[in-house]
Amino acid sequence: MNLQITSFEDYQEKYQHSVEDPEGFWAEIAQNFYWRKPWKKTLEWNFETAETKWFKGGKMNITENALDRHLATRGDQPAIVFEPNDPSDESTTLTYKVLHERVCTFANVLKKHGVQKGDRICIYMPMIPELAIAVLACARIGAIHSVVFGGFSAQSIADRINDAQCNLVITADGSFRGNKSIPLKSTMDDALIQCPSVKKVIVATRTRVPVSMLKGRDLWWEEEVKTVSSVCPAEEMDAEDILFILYTSGSTGKPKGVVHTCGGYMIYSTYTFANVFQYQEGQTHFCTADIGWITGHSYIVYGPLCYGATTLLFEGVPTYPDAGRFWDIVTKHKVDILYTAPTAIRSLMGFGDEFVEGKDLSSLKVLGSVGEPINEEAWHWYNEKVGHKNCPIVDTWWQTETGGLMISPIANVTPTKPSYATLPLPGVQPLLVDEKGDELVGNGVSGNLCIRFPWPGIIRTTYGDHERCVQTYFSTYKGLYFTGDGCLRDEDGYYRITGRVDDVINVSGHRIGTAEVENAINMHLGVVESAIVGYPHDIKGQGIYAYIIMDKEQEDIDLTRRDILATVTRIIGPIAKPDKIQFVSGLPKTRSGKIMRRILRKVAEGETSNLGDISTLLDPNVVAEIIDGMVK
Ligand code: WTA
Repeated sequence: MNLQITSFEDYQEKYQHSVEDPEGFWAEIAQNFYWRKPWKKTLEWNFETAETKWFKGGKMNITENALDRHLATRGDQPAIVFEPNDPSDESTTLTYKVLHERVCTFANVLKKHGVQKGDRICIYMPMIPELAIAVLACARIGAIHSVVFGGFSAQSIADRINDAQCNLVITADGSFRGNKSIPLKSTMDDALIQCPSVKKVIVATRTRVPVSMLKGRDLWWEEEVKTVSSVCPAEEMDAEDILFILYTSGSTGKPKGVVHTCGGYMIYSTYTFANVFQYQEGQTHFCTADIGWITGHSYIVYGPLCYGATTLLFEGVPTYPDAGRFWDIVTKHKVDILYTAPTAIRSLMGFGDEFVEGKDLSSLKVLGSVGEPINEEAWHWYNEKVGHKNCPIVDTWWQTETGGLMISPIANVTPTKPSYATLPLPGVQPLLVDEKGDELVGNGVSGNLCIRFPWPGIIRTTYGDHERCVQTYFSTYKGLYFTGDGCLRDEDGYYRITGRVDDVINVSGHRIGTAEVENAINMHLGVVESAIVGYPHDIKGQGIYAYIIMDKEQEDIDLTRRDILATVTRIIGPIAKPDKIQFVSGLPKTRSGKIMRRILRKVAEGETSNLGDISTLLDPNVVAEIIDGMVK
């Protein structure tokens, strides 16, 4: 399969083609994949109703593209290289042949327990090969996977399981992360008290901590795979059948289930993988994300495997046993492509150069960045200390909703610029609009980032609530997909993402909805009201600042603070814990009762003057109190 762009001129031509004739452009690319039956119509779309269909009528199964089609040519090539948490444990390799066999076997386990096409399966697992196998086994038989990141609480899992009405769960006893052992099964058990739809739970063994196994419901993975055959024909899927649901946070309400479908997602994740990283036969690709997020779905599992690549799956954390772990992995597995997040880079920078200097990083060819804007300092450190100024850095902007990379340099093709995502990939038509929705034309402008035409990886719906999809993405600006990001287009036409313009905070590359955190805090005994804002954080990119009103004076305010953190951990998970909590007697509100977050944001940023017009506030005195009690 040759999908790669070879030069900047080639990029410009392909980009032009993709805008003038999007259907022709994507149809040509899609021909490179294995379809059981060809599609009848390449594209049908309507941004007013948020309906997009790609490759309508085409029949396929993504696992035939990710596994079966490679068996003849690269059956013995490593598909997954697994690097365990503890570097003294042996790493393992699954060839395409072995991965295919394990996926088929586990797919038969699912079938044995009644799973059918269209059923929803929740996966809550550590970063071990069984996670990728579980994902692919669902896809094999047409079941819809909903992977929940291992750091979420029982309550968050329950919300996701109930929203999708999952009937089977795949989990593990526990997970190893650094020097911690995390009990996944017991968290799942707590969740399942609230989830009557779940009939079976399959548990893989990892940490082998004691777990409660319920007769009739819970099953050991290792026992089950012994009872079935390793032959499992793939289910024939329509290009527009759902492949997976992945929950993500937005400005309002509970996280929503972003839906991606089989055909378009396959084409888009693979095309972008092949191009942006310029993967070459035999190379090893190391994406450090967790499969619980979209980056792991698209660039650990589906994109690399559909392209026949070797993908590295790392169980642990960048700082265990020390801050040189990524570099040791690069040396050990001769990693060619490293794809990580600015937050990891900044954190490792903070440990000092001695952990990276002297490491053999000569195998590296391409470096990638994802999840949040990368600051120039981190960009230069990455370029110099890791890439030795020999590796292009691809700063890839995209979202759960886009399925794959959208605005990004193509390695060795697009000239890069520190902290710029540079140019749109072929098929992507970005534009900037002002508050009123008027397009900002020309260069040297900044505004809200929208996309005017569908690409194959675009979100199809929000599970169970299509209206929410329309409202969230297609209603702010009529006829456009709105990303929620602010963006600058410089004099060269290069794009630089400046961050969210809505009430989403990006903490260490994780999307956190302010409303979600506020709801969790408001559930705590004695809390009257709360308001959450983001503030710049040296390592996390953004930190979470909480303003909280209590019903009465607290005896031990520090203990109350810790109690509230425990509630947030219980309701959402530790990733949503506020970094700073300020107790206040009131919040700055307009006369109509709206919280003026602009003021709260300024104070959280440490700005005490230039707060703008506060005369419209119901009670301007609260501002002085807030400034006075500001948490530094
Ligand atoms: C942010 C992660 C700047 C952005 C793939 C987006 C970025 C949100 C970049 C999506 C980047 C992602 N530069 N900002 N290269 N990549 N973002 O859904 O605000 O977890 O809207 O997808 O992350 O986060 P999500």
